[in-house]
Amino acid sequence: MTCGGSQGFFLLLFGLLCDSEQICPSVCLCISDTVSCSSSGLARLPRSLPSFSVTLDLSHNHLSWLGPRSFNMMHRLENLWMAHNQINTLSHGVFQNVSGLRYLDLSSNKLQVLEQHYFQGLWRLEELRLFNNKITQVEAGTLTHLSSLKKVYFSFNQITCFPFFSIRDHSHPFLAMLDLSSNRLTRLPWEDVKALPGLVQRGLYLHNNSLICDCAMYSVFWHWNLRGYDSVKDFTDEHTCNIHGDPRASIKFLRNNRVFLNCTVEKAVMQPSTVLLSSMMVLKGNKVHLDCQTSLSGADLSFTWLSPSIGFITPDSINGTLISMFPNGTLEIEATSVNDSGLYICTAVDNKQALNATREVNVTVLLPVAESFNTGYTTLLGCIVTLVSILMYLFLTPCRYNYCKQPAATYNHSNLSSVFFSATRDQPKVETFKHVAFMEPVIGEEEATEWVPES
Ligand SMILES: *[C@@H]1O[C@H](CO)[C@@H](O)[C@H](O)[C@H]1NC(C)=O
Ligand SMILES: *[C@@H]1O[C@H](CO)[C@@H](O)[C@H](O)[C@H]1NC(C)=O
Ligand SMILES: *[C@@H]1O[C@H](CO)[C@@H](O)[C@H](O)[C@H]1NC(C)=O
Ligand SMILES: *[C@@H]1O[C@H](CO)[C@@H](O)[C@H](O)[C@H]1NC(C)=O
Ligand SMILES: *[C@@H]1O[C@H](CO)[C@@H](O)[C@H](O)[C@H]1NC(C)=O
Ligand SMILES: *[C@@H]1O[C@H](CO)[C@@H](O)[C@H](O)[C@H]1NC(C)=O
Ligand SMILES: *[C@@H]1O[C@H](CO)[C@@H](O)[C@H](O)[C@H]1NC(C)=O
Ligand SMILES: *[C@@H]1O[C@H](CO)[C@@H](O)[C@H](O)[C@H]1NC(C)=O
Repeated sequence: MTCGGSQGFFLLLFGLLCDSEQICPSVCLCISDTVSCSSSGLARLPRSLPSFSVTLDLSHNHLSWLGPRSFNMMHRLENLWMAHNQINTLSHGVFQNVSGLRYLDLSSNKLQVLEQHYFQGLWRLEELRLFNNKITQVEAGTLTHLSSLKKVYFSFNQITCFPFFSIRDHSHPFLAMLDLSSNRLTRLPWEDVKALPGLVQRGLYLHNNSLICDCAMYSVFWHWNLRGYDSVKDFTDEHTCNIHGDPRASIKFLRNNRVFLNCTVEKAVMQPSTVLLSSMMVLKGNKVHLDCQTSLSGADLSFTWLSPSIGFITPDSINGTLISMFPNGTLEIEATSVNDSGLYICTAVDNKQALNATREVNVTVLLPVAESFNTGYTTLLGCIVTLVSILMYLFLTPCRYNYCKQPAATYNHSNLSSVFFSATRDQPKVETFKHVAFMEPVIGEEEATEWVPES
């Protein structure tokens, strides 16, 4: 029926005459780009499969083994469904020449150890389903080059150890689902788990394992719970751990956290994670905006400013005076006075995640050029007028009384000198700051003191 069975020199002849690759195996159903051989009682792969297929369904059969280059001719294959078979090993090079594969379903099979070579070359693979196998071990390099992965399902296996360290931002930038629930994990390398990319942490499912209760474990879940990750929220009751590793002393640790009272989880996370310091110079009387931009972002932030002149400022504590605060935390001082100089400290609080971050702004209010100049100028003018008046008083004695009284009355020597003194004292400032100086260099950005899983 198919050309594949031909022998000797007929092979070549028939190969040219009849395109064996395009023939649909009798037990399968071929519809446009889909070949379905599901529930066909297959114990081995059909000898030839149509090369045009994009989707191949081999689920619910009796396949137990896949040989090298099993799908060699299927260059266009993207979806390969093989759930519910008896597959226990994959040969070297089984997926050779199907590097376009995007979905691979091997769930409900009999795989035991996931060897490093199993998925070699599948760099376009996005979804890998391996749940409900007999997997006990995942070799370190198994997922290494699968850089397009988005979802991997390992649940309902017997995994005791998983190579978390092999999953990093640069190696798996799209991975958003890593399901390891219902396995036999007891002690996880929590430092490796905390170093997972934020996207992976958000989609890491670990419930219904045999975790041992300890602070390191609790701290991680405490963070995830606080951030409202679905992986934790949707399975609160399935998150159990065993006290001293004893399966009989299993507790739902997200419900009952009495055991963890001595863990320093909250304390650690309350530390301000970042302090940004900047400085700003502003002319007296000008409006100034102080941003409260910190490492935290999002809609749920609340802000508090501590000002050197009026103390704590919250949006409710100020009342249409010269200071106002925008919902984004920016503080606006309508008209600065010299007293407004000093260090302004903003604390941004993410109530949901219980994170604080601080921003400091050193504000220096300068006397404006125009004001100093005006004072000097008016004083000088006043002096000249006074001097002229004195001269007129001295030399034009035969004048009328009502003409000569006024100048003498406004003359005040001590007043004059003090005005002159203050004007000269301000001289250097006048020349140095002709315009509003606006400097905002970020002087120091401290390292995050506490692990912050998400950027
Ligand atoms: C299969 O891939 C190998 C290298 O991986 C290549 O040499 C070979 O030509 C490919 N075969 C087909 C039929 O594309
Ligand atoms: C938990 O895992 C065990 C096997 O490890 C499984 O039999 C059980 O059904 C799982 N429970 C839930 C609620 O998923
Ligand atoms: C917490 O520490 C105190 C004193 O260090 C100890 O008495 C108590 O048993 C501890 N609680 C738990 C739950 O470990
Ligand atoms: C974080 O902010 C909260 C709420 O304003 C406050 O109670 C807590 O003391 C702050 N923690 C630190 C370390 O500033
Ligand atoms: C704001 O002003 C109103 C009246 O103008 C006054 O009743 C209220 O106490 C003020 N609130 C604060 C926080 O100053
Ligand atoms: C905050 O809001 C105010 C008013 O809407 C705006 O002027 C200011 O630029 C904003 N600040 C930031 C950092 O976005
Ligand atoms: C500045 O502070 C001084 C005393 O600290 C006070 O006498 C003066 O009125 C303040 N000036 C303004 C403009 O608030
Ligand atoms: C703020 O700036 C002024 C003038 O530039 C400087 O003297 C002062 O030390 C600064 N304060 C802080 C806390 O950086």
